[in-house]
Amino acid sequence: MAKKPSHVTWGGRFSAGPAELMLKFSESVSFDHRLAPFDIAGSKAHSAMLAHVGLITAQERDAIHAGLDAIGAEIAAGKFKWNVQLEDVHMNIEQALTKRVPAAAKLHTARSRNDQVATDMRLWFKHTAAELADKTLAAEQALLAVAEANRDVLIPGYTHLQRAQPVYLAHHLFAWLEMLERDRGRFLHVIEQANWCPLGSGAIAGTTLPIDREFTAKQLGFVDARGRPQVSQNSMDTVADRDLFIEFAAACAMAGVHFSRIAEDLILWSSTEFHFVDLPDAFCTGSSLMPQKKNPDSCELLRGKSARLQGNLHTLLTLTKGLPLTYNRDLQEDKPPVFDSFDQTALCLEVLAGTIGGMTVRRDACAAAVADPALLATDLADYLVEHGVPFREAHHVVGAVVQLAEKNSVPLNLLPAEEVQKLHAAFGPDWVEVFNLERAMARRRGTGMPGPTQLRRQIARWRKQLQSGK
Ligand code: ARG
Repeated sequence: MAKKPSHVTWGGRFSAGPAELMLKFSESVSFDHRLAPFDIAGSKAHSAMLAHVGLITAQERDAIHAGLDAIGAEIAAGKFKWNVQLEDVHMNIEQALTKRVPAAAKLHTARSRNDQVATDMRLWFKHTAAELADKTLAAEQALLAVAEANRDVLIPGYTHLQRAQPVYLAHHLFAWLEMLERDRGRFLHVIEQANWCPLGSGAIAGTTLPIDREFTAKQLGFVDARGRPQVSQNSMDTVADRDLFIEFAAACAMAGVHFSRIAEDLILWSSTEFHFVDLPDAFCTGSSLMPQKKNPDSCELLRGKSARLQGNLHTLLTLTKGLPLTYNRDLQEDKPPVFDSFDQTALCLEVLAGTIGGMTVRRDACAAAVADPALLATDLADYLVEHGVPFREAHHVVGAVVQLAEKNSVPLNLLPAEEVQKLHAAFGPDWVEVFNLERAMARRRGTGMPGPTQLRRQIARWRKQLQSGK
């Protein structure tokens, strides 16, 4: 292997540069270049602090800021040349700055790439978690609109994928809303967890120089609700800790599980067998062979992407397990999974909002499915309970009523009253009123139940909650 003189920033103690293969193996700029805006913000804050404590002059600070702004503009315009020989985003930017501004040689004073990358990532998490929270909110709003527009539609609710009891479609959609709202809460929590400034931790043990960590934290917006700076409290933990990565990926993975369950419901509902909904053409595809097909691809991909989101979480857990304190180069592998989790979750949320927002509810099919009186068999047992029969006995008796209806091939509510009364004396002449669906729904009054009073309450609650986004 030819020996090349080392030119990288850390090259002082090396007589030869790294092998080509090693460069290819160890570079991260091909993926961490997306941290550039945060890296530049971090360097501006850091140099402002250096000037504030007198480690560089105001002129040097201004020259560094102007240089960083110019580089930032070049990157934003896609004109910046990333160089894999310089390993990562941090060294690419620092080298470019050094070419323009002599004072750049002072920028890395009292800083290491270890606290630098931790800072970049915390800024990135604050930014992207807020974006995911917003996109979740948008998907929730699309869901609420469908629920409201179809608030009078009833469908069978399912357990074991068997028809169980009637619910308002909106009640089912609101179950999804609860899931998504918890996801949004998890993204908002990531923002809070990210809100501690690592800069000043150095490589592992801080610095001997008289820096002002609180100043840097303030510059970067690492502050609490009252504007007080929040700086990380242990330099070793700061450069070794990757909990936040795992929490972010976990929030995405959990959201992915929810996407997949919603998607699966939609796949079932849009099948010919159910046909409760038609999915929008814009989010479906056809078959290359079968002309009649309209496939629910967006939902299938939502189901599929959740595997990827779980994989990313698992990668991070495995990456950090058993790793000695503090920074180890393994940790460079922490970025591809979180970047991918962000990209895919953001896409999923948009696709989910589009698919739900564009679907139409097939009221006729829903009404036909929910008309099955067997869905109210439990109500019939409750009727007996109200007439003094212990529930276990009532359950048994109604089982016999169901069996009788099946034997005679008639719907439950069309069984002759005398036959039913033979099965239990507690059945009065009003037994059949149990099958009045509207009445049955109205009786489900308690909090969390699918009756109309609760539905009105939930619509009002979601309207308020999703409007403020709080
Ligand atoms: N590219 C590196 C990473 O992402 C930056 C930190 C490098 N630190 C070091 N000590 N080599 O982890």
